[in-house]
Amino acid sequence: MQQWPEPVIHVQSLSESGDRAIPERFIKPPSERVTAHQGPEKTMSIPIIDIGGIANGNKFDEETMRALSNACKEWGFFQLVNHGMNKEIIEKAKEVWREFFHLPMIEKQAFANSPVTYEGYGSRVGVEKNASLDWSDYFFLNIFPKNLRNYEKWPSFPNSLRETTKNYTKEVVKLCMMLMEMLSLGLGLDKEYFREAFGGDEYGACLRACFYPKCPQPELTLGLSSHSDPGGLTVLLSDDHVTGLQVRKDGEWVTVKPVPGALIINIGDQIQVMSNDIYKSAEHRVQVNSEKERLSIALFFNPKGDIPIGPAKQLLSAHKPALFQHNITFNEYRQFIRKRGPTGKYQLESLKTM
Ligand code: OGA
Ligand code: NI
Repeated sequence: MQQWPEPVIHVQSLSESGDRAIPERFIKPPSERVTAHQGPEKTMSIPIIDIGGIANGNKFDEETMRALSNACKEWGFFQLVNHGMNKEIIEKAKEVWREFFHLPMIEKQAFANSPVTYEGYGSRVGVEKNASLDWSDYFFLNIFPKNLRNYEKWPSFPNSLRETTKNYTKEVVKLCMMLMEMLSLGLGLDKEYFREAFGGDEYGACLRACFYPKCPQPELTLGLSSHSDPGGLTVLLSDDHVTGLQVRKDGEWVTVKPVPGALIINIGDQIQVMSNDIYKSAEHRVQVNSEKERLSIALFFNPKGDIPIGPAKQLLSAHKPALFQHNITFNEYRQFIRKRGPTGKYQLESLKTM
């Protein structure tokens, strides 16, 4: 599919139109909507992992390793604090992307994306005609491998956006490399296991800046429908002040309450496959609200696109057979969400061999 099947509706334009009712295309079936009892009174929260000691150059201590490993097994989601990333770079990244989304529509539209690469400014994921739509706009960019990086597709305003995004993603990728070592060790694998399985220096990384405009009928829609991330590992820089992200745990939706300055990390489908289901790629979604817009920046850290992905041999035994075949590459796998849009964990489950 070379083009979107219908004219793209930018959610920000709808939000700013002042209409009190959202278009029907955005109304979710009642079973998908956020219900009151799934809201703020929930007491469960995603784990908080403090890697202060490690970020300062110390060895991985056992307690931190255990906490991280449990978080990946039980939740597939955690908040990382004392991660050592430069505060100014983080704040600047949020600032430049917020400024970008506040530009006049015509300037953003100069970067309109197509479903061929998804790179640029867009408002929908999936190309099925008449599909249900989510209440958000986004900007998607290839960061690694470097030969896919095309600065012409990066906004040139605000002036510092390119430099800031370059600096921010460089730091986040460094952090991902360290997390990959910890994740490998947490499974009892060699610390280089995931690094190598991801293609060594040929790993991939993409950035998705997500913008959730105010919504006049937030109870009827979602900012982003339920999905798990198709890639390896996601590092999310979330709005410190506006909640919205919800994670599914044992069938219940748990709202993430961002710790200021923390990074939210989640396991993607590729790591669930490589770990033969030991680490979980959690289902998540985004709720919107009528009072405040919300901005988040996701960095997707992915395996090299053309390696067939499968479970680590070291994790398999007669009692623990492979739950997935080594027969699909990440480039093939990601086509599913790019065509069908978010569908919970349907795609991953459909890959299971038993
Ligand atoms: C995503 C995502 C969450 C958020 O982009 O895949 O889950 O809070 N984003 O924006
Ligand atoms: Ni996601």
